[in-house]
Amino acid sequence: MCGIVGYLGRKAAQPILIEALKRLEYRGYDSAGIATLSDGVIKIKKEQGKISKLEEILDAPSNDEKLGIAHTRWATHGKPNQLNAHPHSDWTGKIAVVHNGIIENHATLKTWLSSKAVDFVSETDTEVIANLIGYFYSEVNSGKDHTQAPPDQNKFEWSVQRALAELHGTYGLAILCADFPKMLIGAKKGSPLILGVGEGEYILASDAAAIVEHTQKAIYLSNNEMVTITPDGFNTKTIDNVAVSKELHQIEFSLEQIEIGGFAHYMLKEIFEQPEALKTCMGGRIDRQNNRIKLGGLASYLRELTRTKHLILTACGTAFHASLVGEFLFEHLARIPTETEYASEFRYRNPIIEDQTVVISISQSGETADTLAAAEYAKERGATVLGIVNVVGSSIARTTDAGIYLHAGPEIGVASTKAFTAQLAVLTMLAIELGRRKNISDTEAGRLIEELSAIPEKISRILKQSEHIKEIASANIKKNNWLFLGRGFNYPVALEGALKLKEISYIHAEGLPAAEMKHGPIALISNGTPAVFIATLGPQYDKILGNISEVRARGGKIIVVATEGDESIKQYADHLITIPEAPEMLQPMLTVLPLQILAYHAAVLRGKDVDKPRNLAKSVTVE
Ligand code: G6P
Repeated sequence: MCGIVGYLGRKAAQPILIEALKRLEYRGYDSAGIATLSDGVIKIKKEQGKISKLEEILDAPSNDEKLGIAHTRWATHGKPNQLNAHPHSDWTGKIAVVHNGIIENHATLKTWLSSKAVDFVSETDTEVIANLIGYFYSEVNSGKDHTQAPPDQNKFEWSVQRALAELHGTYGLAILCADFPKMLIGAKKGSPLILGVGEGEYILASDAAAIVEHTQKAIYLSNNEMVTITPDGFNTKTIDNVAVSKELHQIEFSLEQIEIGGFAHYMLKEIFEQPEALKTCMGGRIDRQNNRIKLGGLASYLRELTRTKHLILTACGTAFHASLVGEFLFEHLARIPTETEYASEFRYRNPIIEDQTVVISISQSGETADTLAAAEYAKERGATVLGIVNVVGSSIARTTDAGIYLHAGPEIGVASTKAFTAQLAVLTMLAIELGRRKNISDTEAGRLIEELSAIPEKISRILKQSEHIKEIASANIKKNNWLFLGRGFNYPVALEGALKLKEISYIHAEGLPAAEMKHGPIALISNGTPAVFIATLGPQYDKILGNISEVRARGGKIIVVATEGDESIKQYADHLITIPEAPEMLQPMLTVLPLQILAYHAAVLRGKDVDKPRNLAKSVTVE
């Protein structure tokens, strides 16, 4: 949610910043802007809309501008227009800021600054930050501020610290000062910020995707830390001026992984990457010879997990749907009482957290504000908090006591696909291992491990039906209301199928447990309403046939995801998509594939921007 980037180095800053912004564009794309600094002047260009719009108004890059900051916005405070776009400068034009996060006390600060004759031009909380820094900077320069900057500290850095001390809320910031043409300052609280350390150049960014083109070495700032960068190096300290030394990390993914390759969209690429992503996710963790699952990151917590009487899974969006499957897996295989909670609701309802409660936070990005806050809340109340996260070094990964990385590779399409199946794979591995320790025989665990290992190949077979699924999407593309229905382990998949269709094609869709239909939603069925049933072979097969009949009798158009070789289902289906046979509890890793592909084609057929759906952002770093 909002991408920020800063550059200081030997090259012209503008092309590097624009390229980096494009890599961050999935975080928000309401407006974009850039500020470069040379000869003591900050030049700002900004525009409403996507980065391509900003590019249209840029001057030719200048080699004199070797320092700059840039931003791609997902609007929170103030409409997505040119005036509210970042960078924001202070009223004197000396300070420029890009910001990701929310300043909660911006209204109070704005009133106070206005009383000091400071002018505002936008509706944003970020302009308050720029003006606050500018205010302290002009005070210290005019000798008016009673708390003067320490003699060994430059006035720019000191003013930033003075301003940060007044802010309540969250920020990832990159800041310029016209009087310091060789200095870039970054600060972090609650929003991600990484410093890429290259050969004679530095890139400060919200995420590693903007950095890997230049360097794979990076430091991850922690909350309440800042970094001051000059051509001679950088120093890190807390925002109250205590030096901290940071470790240099290796960014785990390569530029190639974040390139779109030959695919039309990142979402399609990521759908097709699922066999490989799952192999990487499970490789090294599945020991087929000994029928064991090895989860290194959790090794010292497995005993606690087997003993817990209360497991809570918290997540948002697609990760929430994966958690629901996780709940069924933990209860079924390991008999651990498990609840799934929307992270956004969890901490506001006084949840029961006892001595042995274990909370697992599930998140692709590791930055979702609600999921992070839920993890922090559970930790404060004494729970053991574990993470299932894709992005290495992300905030949730660092907040939790221990965890398992998905290793699914970077996910760029806003609609989550490969992270979902990787989350399912990790939850399944964990449930099998806990089950083996508690409830199921080694033979049963071995059978499931064998079946799990076969999933990537089975996914490849489903992918071959993409064109067929496109035809189904095309035949129903004019329909504006869809239903997705499943039972048992496939009920969360129905929720996920509806979410996928909604978020990228803007078609209204509802996901439901199939039997709930008759308690209300069946009233929505009229002639030709598409109803997608997941009716694979399993314990509830006969029941779902009954549910299909009920919808069919009322004129619904029946699209069925069924098991290969199931001949009898054909009489129920207007359209049929098949998946290879698998045990019911592993089916979600297969049944979701047709639904992802269906949503993708529906969105393309409707001419929507699949990778950048309106109003959405990949990583929701505000509550
Ligand atoms: C956003 C994304 C979803 C994602 C959700 C949770 O809403 O658009 O695709 O499922 O955030 O994200 P996380 O990174 O925590 O899995």
